[in-house]
Amino acid sequence: MTTSILITGGAGYIGSHTLLEFLAAGYRPIVVDNFGNSSPEVLRRVEKLAGAPVRWHEGDIRDAQLLDSLFEQARRDGAPVDCVVHFAGLKAVGDSVAEPLEYYDNNVHGSIVLLKAMDRAQVKRIVFSSSATVYGEPVSLPYTESHRLAPANPYGQTKAMVETILADWCQAGAGRTAVNLRYFNPIGAHPSGTIGEAPRGRPNNLFPYITQVAVGKREKLSIFGRDYPTVDGTGVRDYLHVSDLAVGHVKAVEYAQATPGWVAFNLGTGRGTSVLELVHTFEAVTGKKVPYEFLDRRPGDLAGMWADPSAANEKLGWRATRTVEDMCRDGWCWQSGNPDGYV
Ligand code: NAD
Ligand code: UFG
Repeated sequence: MTTSILITGGAGYIGSHTLLEFLAAGYRPIVVDNFGNSSPEVLRRVEKLAGAPVRWHEGDIRDAQLLDSLFEQARRDGAPVDCVVHFAGLKAVGDSVAEPLEYYDNNVHGSIVLLKAMDRAQVKRIVFSSSATVYGEPVSLPYTESHRLAPANPYGQTKAMVETILADWCQAGAGRTAVNLRYFNPIGAHPSGTIGEAPRGRPNNLFPYITQVAVGKREKLSIFGRDYPTVDGTGVRDYLHVSDLAVGHVKAVEYAQATPGWVAFNLGTGRGTSVLELVHTFEAVTGKKVPYEFLDRRPGDLAGMWADPSAANEKLGWRATRTVEDMCRDGWCWQSGNPDGYV
């Protein structure tokens, strides 16, 4: 039987790259996005890259009627939804501290509305965008999936709560599957430079800040902290190419179709890179200078964190293949060709 995949938040940074991978793999994706942090232009570009139309609906995952109608429409079209890939959510750590209720409402309440609609439509599989932030202060590194969960801010709490809700949901019904993907630090862009990360306003994250300095939109990078117990005193993270992360979702859906129950996988490379190492690699790959200054540590930041991705390597058959050089080259291709993002 032909089936569809519903992608919530499919116009976002990770969602758009994943949408492209699903189209390339021959799936029938349907996107629902409220465009709160994206625009329909993203989907037009994905259509161009894929050479195929994208089915999409503007709307919010907290709108139960809309979700019912999407599931019903897919059924009438002869390709009922078999699995939901759930990206939709808010993701800025600082905002989550200032506006916690917005985060609990969108990320936790939104996921509950979605799961209830899935139950009504008898859809039993979900792949969820979780985050390495659920681990909090490392007891040991690299993080394995059995590391204790201790999120340090409301955003991280929402991810841990949804993981728990999914565990209880799987427990309560036969044949239900939830694959929780704990992303490390996705950066870069599709190698064509056609789609990429387009933060609104001042970027919160390191890589888009670097590319915006390089393209002349910002004067210099602020490096938060130079006295961490790391290779050069700056923070260490496990950066992975967004297209590798996207492929991980195709593998996760295949896994979900074969294996019922709740499971969590780290998606990372297993290698740490410091802020200075990333800046220097970016400069070497692109030939662009990135002026920087050192500031105090950013409150709440960890010194270093990276993944043990062996469970995903073995059970999903997934491995990150692209290098930090690839991430810098592709991210620069996107930023230099689209200095103002999708505008
Ligand atoms: P993004 O903001 O680019 O994408 C999220 C998309 O969801 C946007 O298109 C937005 O318009 C949409 N959306 C938000 N709330 C919605 C709602 N209620 N209804 C419908 N659409 C809604 O973010 P991203 O970087 O692509 O992240 C995708 C997911 O991955 C998020 O859940 C995020 O928390 C998670 N994640 C991201 C990172 C990262 O570094 N980017 C790391 C770990 C986890
Ligand atoms: N950094 C700077 N200057 C900046 C921005 C960041 O020096 O302008 C440093 C940070 O201090 C940190 C490193 O660069 O050492 C990475 O910071 P990011 O903000 O890019 O990434 P984080 O690891 O702090 O957080 C990101 C997402 C979270 C997610 C987490 C794990 O923002 O939502 O990765 O996936 F949970």
